[in-house]
Amino acid sequence: MTTLYQDHLTVLQQRYEAALTHFQCDAVVLASGHKQYYFQDDHTAPFHSYSGAQQWLPFTLSAETYLIIEAGKKPRIVWPIRDDFWHAPNPVPAGEWQDSWDITPARRDDKWFQGLPEKCAWLGPEPQDFAYVIPGFNTYVDFAKAVKTPYEIAAIQRASVRGAKGHLAARDAFLNGLSEFEIHLAYLQASQQTANQEPYPSIIGVNEHASVLHYEHKDFDRSANPLTLLIDAGATEHGYASDITRTFTKQDDEFRALVKSLDSAEQEMAKKALSGMSYPELHQEALRTIAGILQDHKICSLSVDEQISKGITQTFFPHGLGHLLGLQVHDVGGFHQDVLGTRREPDANAPFLRLTRTLEENMVLTIEPGLYFIPMLLDKMQAEIPQHGCNMALIKQLIPYGGIRIEDNIVVKDEAPVNLTRQAFSECEA
Ligand code: GLY
Ligand code: MN
Ligand code: MN
Repeated sequence: MTTLYQDHLTVLQQRYEAALTHFQCDAVVLASGHKQYYFQDDHTAPFHSYSGAQQWLPFTLSAETYLIIEAGKKPRIVWPIRDDFWHAPNPVPAGEWQDSWDITPARRDDKWFQGLPEKCAWLGPEPQDFAYVIPGFNTYVDFAKAVKTPYEIAAIQRASVRGAKGHLAARDAFLNGLSEFEIHLAYLQASQQTANQEPYPSIIGVNEHASVLHYEHKDFDRSANPLTLLIDAGATEHGYASDITRTFTKQDDEFRALVKSLDSAEQEMAKKALSGMSYPELHQEALRTIAGILQDHKICSLSVDEQISKGITQTFFPHGLGHLLGLQVHDVGGFHQDVLGTRREPDANAPFLRLTRTLEENMVLTIEPGLYFIPMLLDKMQAEIPQHGCNMALIKQLIPYGGIRIEDNIVVKDEAPVNLTRQAFSECEA
C-alpha cells in the first residue's frame, strides 16, 4: 500500500511532467534559496524555503537544497554538506521518503548543476544559468497548487490543531488580564513553535488594536480595561500553514452579541465553499450578510440594498472574504483562471479580494469575514456619504472594542465542505 506522501509525490510528478512537456524542457530544478543577510550586518532574515521546493518534501527544507525533476526518473535531491562548526549540522532526515529520492550530497563548490540537461527550467531564487529561466513555467505549476492532495490536507489539519491549542491558551491569557506580549508567549508555547516558525507574524490586538487589520506590535503593558482580544495566528507543518482568527470578549454586552452574530454568519458562509461556486460571488454574499448584521444591531438604519449601493458595508468590512491557503498563507494562483495565468481581477467594490477563482473540490481556502470600527474609514464615510444612516453615538461606544474577525480554514467539497478549524477546536476542547 502506498502512503499519503508517495501518492502526493505521484501527483506532483504528473503535474511537473505536464509542464515539462508544455515548455519542451527535459528537467526542472527547484531551489530552496539562500539565507539573506540584512544590509551591512552579519544577521540574516529568518530562512523560509521557496514553497515550490518545500511542496516535494515531508520535512522543513533548509537553505541551498536543490531538487531535480525529470520525466520518468526518480526525483533527485542535492543535499548541502558543510564543514561548519559554527552551526548545527544538517543531516539528511531518516524516513521512508528516502526510498522515493536519489540523494546527492554536495559541497558549496561542487558543480552538480553542470550535468543538467541543456533544456532545463529553474524555479526559485538564483538560477545557475539564466538560460534556465523559462517564462510562464512558474505560473503553469502554480495554478494546480490550489487543489490540495490528501497529504497536504492532512498537514494543514495538523497545523490547525496546533493553532487551535495556541488560540485556547491565548484566550485564557487574555481573560487573565495579560499583555499582548504575554498572550503571544502563551500562544507560542501552546502551539509549540518559535515566533520565526509562525507562518506569518501573529496579530494579537487588545481593544482598539483589534481594528488594525495587520497589527504586528506586541504591547508589553497590560491594559487597564481589557475588552477584546483579536488574535490571528497559525502554525506550520513542514511548510503548510493554518491561518486562524478568533475574537474573544470579556463582558456580556452589545459587542459580544455582535461577535456572536458574525461567528454564526461565518459558519454559514463556510458551508457555501462548494465545488463550482464562484469565490467573488461568495464575497458579494458576505457583504450583504454583514450589511444585515449592521442593520440588525442598529449600527446602520439603511436597508441591505441601500448599504450595498452606497458602499457603506466596506467601511466596516474593508478586506476580502479570504484566500487560498497552503504553503504560503496567501497561497499562489488566487487570480489565475488557467495554467497560462489568465487573470481575473477582483470586482471594483472588492479591491482587496485575493481569490477570484471558481472553487474546485479539495481547494483549501479561508473564510474570514470581519466587522471593525476603524476611525480612519468612519471619518471617510462621514465625509463622503452624507446620508450614511449610521448611528454614530453607538459606533463611538464600540470603537474602544476595535473589531471582530472570525477566520476558519475550509476544504472545498462537492457537497459538505470540511471546516478544519472548527474540527480542530472541537478536538482540543473535547
Ligand atoms: N493572517 C493574514 C490573513 O488572514 O490573511
Ligand atoms: Mn487569512
Ligand atoms: Mn489570518
